[in-house]
Amino acid sequence: MTNTKTEYRPQTAEIIAMAGKGGTGKTTITALLIRYLVKSGHTPLLAVDADANANLNELLGLKLDKTLGEIRDSMKTDTPAGMTKSDFMEMGVNHAIIEADGFDLIVMGQPEGPGCYCMANSILSQVMERLARGYRYLLVDNEAGMEHLSRLNLRQIHTLFVVSDPSSRGVLTARRIADLTKSLGVRVGRKVLIVNRTPRQMPKELEDQIEKTIKDTDLLFGGYVPFSQELFECESRQESLLKLNEEVEAVRQAGKIFKNCMD
Ligand SMILES: Nc1ncnc2c1ncn2[C@@H]1O[C@H](COP(=O)(O)OP(=O)(O)OP(=O)(O)O)[C@@H](O)[C@H]1O
Ligand SMILES: [Mg+2]
Repeated sequence: MTNTKTEYRPQTAEIIAMAGKGGTGKTTITALLIRYLVKSGHTPLLAVDADANANLNELLGLKLDKTLGEIRDSMKTDTPAGMTKSDFMEMGVNHAIIEADGFDLIVMGQPEGPGCYCMANSILSQVMERLARGYRYLLVDNEAGMEHLSRLNLRQIHTLFVVSDPSSRGVLTARRIADLTKSLGVRVGRKVLIVNRTPRQMPKELEDQIEKTIKDTDLLFGGYVPFSQELFECESRQESLLKLNEEVEAVRQAGKIFKNCMD
């Protein structure tokens, strides 16, 4: 009997990226989003750690081996005779993929040092573009600052989660990011504000500032993720956030936000 079911083969993966002031919880929210996407069957999923100081793997309990930066560097000197640089890079990238339970992770590593990396970067972009075609979702964790997003050469971001902490400066940075994306040369489908690590009682002034930010910009309001003692302790024990109980309030609230955005 012939199989009439068509396999899901997207041309390009749907790209989800993180932005926000330093230390607001981008990597934590990324880990919680991976957890949500895997559990709700939004796969195949490739998580990309684009922070030069890679640490997403730690929050997921995964051991880091090779970064894309290291592979790009070794391409310049270590490509064996008779092998194209493109094949060498492709092999290296496949090697660098960490296969986890229900998703894959790849780590960008350090940006290039002095010297010309035009060819290496262009080959890497091509390899990454081919790689991305095999996934339904690409989830990119960034360090603070929008220029890192442009370093990734992404053509289009479907959803940009802008993460703030419960502080006036965090929300102000979110507002700046919302305005900045226009000049980045990356098309952003929608920008969703998540206010993370919130206290039980939000100050009225901060709530007003958030409301005004939503009114003045094209940011959509995703929701609040409360400060979580369980999450804090989990991180302190260097345990994977994937192991957190489903009933933990921060996990539940984050799940609600993701469900609204992704389904
Ligand atoms: N909801 C939360 N409850 C408790 N602790 C949290 C919560 N969210 C994040 N944290 C803690 O806050 C700290 C900063 O979080 P995280 O590393 O995710 O921020 P980041 O925005 O990725 O930082 P960077 O800009 O350095 O990449 C971590 O110690 C993390 O465990
Ligand atoms: Mg981070």
